[in-house]
Amino acid sequence: MNLEYLSGFGNEFASEALPGALPVGQNSPQKAPYGLYTELFSGTAFTMARSEARRTWLYRIQPSANHPAFSKLERQLAGGPLGAVTPNRLRWNPLDIPSEPTDFIDGLVGMVANSGSEKPSGISIHTYRANRSMARVFFNADGELLIVPEQGRLRIATELGVLDVEPLEIVVLPRGLKFRVELLDAQARGYVAENHGAPLRLPDLGPIGSNGLANPRDFLTPVAHYEDLKQPTTLVQKFLGELWGCELDHSPLNVVAWHGNNVPYKYDLRRFNTLGTVSFDHPDPSIFTVLTSPTSTHGLANLDFVIFPPRWMVAENTFRPPWFHRNLMNEYMGLIQGAYDAKAEGFLPGGASLHSCMSAHGPDGETCTKAINVDLAPHKIDNTMAFMFETSQVLRPTRFALDCPQLQPSYDACWASLPATFNPNRR
Ligand SMILES: [Fe+2]
Repeated sequence: MNLEYLSGFGNEFASEALPGALPVGQNSPQKAPYGLYTELFSGTAFTMARSEARRTWLYRIQPSANHPAFSKLERQLAGGPLGAVTPNRLRWNPLDIPSEPTDFIDGLVGMVANSGSEKPSGISIHTYRANRSMARVFFNADGELLIVPEQGRLRIATELGVLDVEPLEIVVLPRGLKFRVELLDAQARGYVAENHGAPLRLPDLGPIGSNGLANPRDFLTPVAHYEDLKQPTTLVQKFLGELWGCELDHSPLNVVAWHGNNVPYKYDLRRFNTLGTVSFDHPDPSIFTVLTSPTSTHGLANLDFVIFPPRWMVAENTFRPPWFHRNLMNEYMGLIQGAYDAKAEGFLPGGASLHSCMSAHGPDGETCTKAINVDLAPHKIDNTMAFMFETSQVLRPTRFALDCPQLQPSYDACWASLPATFNPNRR
């Protein structure tokens, strides 16, 4: 399958899989071309400011309304409810990929969340593991999904078209968009940030100017592609944290043409224009923000997606790893490949760490000692891609995340080896 994409971010895109399938000059004509039905897919309230509004007009074989009642599924999402509150720094080894048949939905496991799933707000973070393609179609009524593959290529067939995504790429699926995740390799694993707040967007650049970081033209949205299949299909939705399903007699991925800006997209993290110091010190990690979901408080993010890509370190007279810090924001980190420059060991691809509001962290003892004593020269950090889901509200681990054997029992020890170097007699 040769996939085509439309380039840009936040654009009013238009795409048709049959010539002339998009009505001209109006959105909802009495008779849409080819006998299609018209449906509006809104990702924001009708009355949002124009710059915030996300909506797409769909021209489809059957309207989404043509479905029987949903019933609650016996098998619910793994991860379970939130566990005990803890201010402790936590770190997890990668979760195993199950050996029994597991699709993307069955393999989703909740790790941390700002709130209980029955009242979703802020963000929730999941790991996914899969070893088979979905035969069913899914949509999430609870939020937008940011998928970060760590292992295995995915083909994501959506209502608006098909996206192929591989590790070092990300994909964003709007709230409510129907999709099916197929595996292009034997197995797949990765991270999912579920955004219950304002849709993700590019951060403002301020004094950086009109270019840099993630550039709009590198975001890719699929072209229209439809399935005209009269075959039984299970449609599953997540609604307030619960999985519900119904049986359709047709594929719900049956949109022939569409136009709008409420669209799925992918982005290749290798295209990120990484900026940093050319003198001394280094900027705050916000300089690495790929996408952000703002809150109503200017500058305070509901979700920042931040990456730590390969880059040159050139700062003079500077402690080059991330400094020791305590933050208002809550940081959930993951690793796609290589090693993260603040940790000598223990933080593995597919693993994760959580540093909550005001919890002290930074480079481990070994990294710190090395950084203080190293001869400073320009140095390339290569073959690495760590990332952070950062949020302004505290993230609570699920019971699963607190009880699983992958939770490292002695994460705190990585800072215990920091030597006492203070000497009041030697400046
Ligand atoms: Fe941090």
